[in-house]
Amino acid sequence: MKSSAIALFVCLFGQLQGDGEYKARFLQQYHKIHDPTNGYYSKQGVPYHSAETLMVDITDHGHESTSEAYSYWIWMEAMYGKLTGNFSSFNAAWENMEQNIIPVHASQIGNNNYNPSKPATYADELDWPSDYPIPLQFDVPVGQDPIFQELVDTYGSYDIYAMHWLLDADNVYGFGNLPGSCELGPEADGPSYINTFERGPEESTWRTIPQPTCDTFKYGGQHGFSEIFAKQSSFTKSWKYSNAPDADARAIQAAFWAHTWANEEGKSFEISSTIEKAAKLGDYLRYAMFDKYFKRIGNCVGPHNCPGGQGRESAHFLLSWYFGWGGALSGEWTWRIGDGTAFFGYQNPMAAYALSNVTAMKPKSATGASDWQASLDRQLEFYGWLQSEEGAIAGGVTNSWNGRYDTPPENLTENTFHGMFYDWQPVCHDPPTNRWYGMQPWSLDRLAQYYYVTGDEKAKTVLDKWVNWIISEIEFKNGNFQLPEWLDWSGVPPNVHVIVAKRSSDTATASATARTLSYYAAKTGDQNVKNVAKQLLDCIWNHQTTKGVSVEEVLDSYSRFNETVYVPENFKGYYPNGDVIEHGATFISLRSFYKRDPEWYKIEAYLNGGEIPRFTYHRFWAQSDVALAQGTYGILFNE
Ligand SMILES: *[C@@H]1O[C@H](CO)[C@@H](O)[C@H](O)[C@H]1NC(C)=O
Ligand SMILES: *[C@@H]1O[C@H](CO)[C@@H](O)[C@H](O)[C@H]1NC(C)=O
Ligand SMILES: *[C@@H]1O[C@H](CO)[C@@H](O)[C@H](O)[C@H]1NC(C)=O
Ligand SMILES: *[C@@H]1O[C@H](CO)[C@@H](O)[C@H](O)[C@H]1NC(C)=O
Repeated sequence: MKSSAIALFVCLFGQLQGDGEYKARFLQQYHKIHDPTNGYYSKQGVPYHSAETLMVDITDHGHESTSEAYSYWIWMEAMYGKLTGNFSSFNAAWENMEQNIIPVHASQIGNNNYNPSKPATYADELDWPSDYPIPLQFDVPVGQDPIFQELVDTYGSYDIYAMHWLLDADNVYGFGNLPGSCELGPEADGPSYINTFERGPEESTWRTIPQPTCDTFKYGGQHGFSEIFAKQSSFTKSWKYSNAPDADARAIQAAFWAHTWANEEGKSFEISSTIEKAAKLGDYLRYAMFDKYFKRIGNCVGPHNCPGGQGRESAHFLLSWYFGWGGALSGEWTWRIGDGTAFFGYQNPMAAYALSNVTAMKPKSATGASDWQASLDRQLEFYGWLQSEEGAIAGGVTNSWNGRYDTPPENLTENTFHGMFYDWQPVCHDPPTNRWYGMQPWSLDRLAQYYYVTGDEKAKTVLDKWVNWIISEIEFKNGNFQLPEWLDWSGVPPNVHVIVAKRSSDTATASATARTLSYYAAKTGDQNVKNVAKQLLDCIWNHQTTKGVSVEEVLDSYSRFNETVYVPENFKGYYPNGDVIEHGATFISLRSFYKRDPEWYKIEAYLNGGEIPRFTYHRFWAQSDVALAQGTYGILFNE
């Protein structure tokens, strides 16, 4: 805050701001993202994770697509509707999502043979990829799935209406696992359903073995990819999907804004069928509220000791890390799992409010809206419980310590959250989940939106403290800004502490921060906070590129292209392009396609001892965050 007056001058220098400047910036950025020459979309109109192909972060290739990218796209189209009065592209984006990333019936067969009184067979999660494959344990009690029958009765279908999280949009791996088909091979046009992580908290993108979601044993080893993950006496051709609940929730939140804005224009009828689908997505998203094996929530210690739950006994009502569903390709059996670990960064009180309190968005099922009301209350409590002394929000909680219902250390058992244990790094340890600052404004933005819409004091209390913290951590210097990039955590609630371990000028997380501050300032009338948001937005806008808005990154993590990926010793298999999957494989040996990437030379030079590669990336979510932050400020303050 100290140098904000100077920054205001520096960041605005050379720019003339007229009426509607920030709305105009949204449209400018929107058009860059939609300009085909900038390469954000595949032939089928699937949004890529990034315009660039050589890209490893949460995805292992830039031209993969995620449910996250879809949710940001839908949100951008909602705002486009607000600013132009034309909501047809909002409907179209939702339709593209339905075609390409929500599995169609032929891609999830056998759901009618699902047994809701035994949703899945238990297996421990272990710490390292090298601890896999793991045995299934048929004698461990699991609970009952209390929403299955209700969903069947409501929608007349046994299938799940939810996004799978990951697509190989250009069929780079060559599985050709297209919507409605299975393993058509490298000749098929994408998008192709794939999956990655499945081997515990240390399995980062660098250590993962990509696999098709539908495994006919055509690729991989003798029994496809299954032997890498599970020890079994016999193997079955199968399919499976993983949902990332924050993304589906973001799509619902976007639909809430589309509904609100279309209403203002008297156009809600133009999008009413999409809004109905958003409510349906919310009905199914409730799978994220349940323990992985539908076991009882609270002091659930010891896989054999902790009983399965009945009804809502297994519901924590938070948005957990994932839920999954799968089955045999023959259709003979299927399974479903929830997840007992919840990270604050995934929570979305805006979506929970929409699904419980906005008539047009209430799910049709008997208990959908009341579950979302319970979720809204629980989420608000969660932020407060996790808030650090300084104001940032700490990691999350788990119902299953170490992913296997272990006994947690004593310091975590004194103060629990509804019997769930504090976890400063839920689910991922490489890197730890809550290190990345971006999760703070991603999640707090939704809380600020909820506060803006409802004025709820519980949300305000958390936001007051959070806003204070971040304002004290933003530095404006030499025409630029610095924000936290990495956070370090210590202590246990209610005495958690955060320190900023690394700072950067990332335009995407700065955008999410500015958006959070804008909603907060619009409701409280705090001029100082509004000014900080405006300064951030102006500084961010100084980093325009031909494709969007971005700053260069120096990626020493790319030394990991050479890292060994654990493959069990007795396993030998092949990718469709012939890459061999065997003990001793490395990240790059499993992905030889990278050696034909136009940017590969930078990686090769680095691996041979040369300089650290630099990239100026255009991630879909990041470019959307930039657009949405500028547009939000424009809409809220009519500037
Ligand atoms: C709305 O936008 C779509 C393209 O997204 C266009 O085809 C259509 O003509 C527009 N409608 C109006 C009324 O401008
Ligand atoms: C939402 O609706 C419930 C039930 O009608 C009500 O008790 C609650 O106060 C509402 N919440 C908000 C934030 O308006
Ligand atoms: C809790 O105790 C464990 C083991 O005694 C220790 O490793 C851990 O750092 C403590 N957790 C926190 C958050 O302080
Ligand atoms: C890493 O990869 C490069 C290029 O592919 C190779 O030349 C080098 O020997 C590898 N280094 C190690 C340590 O494996």
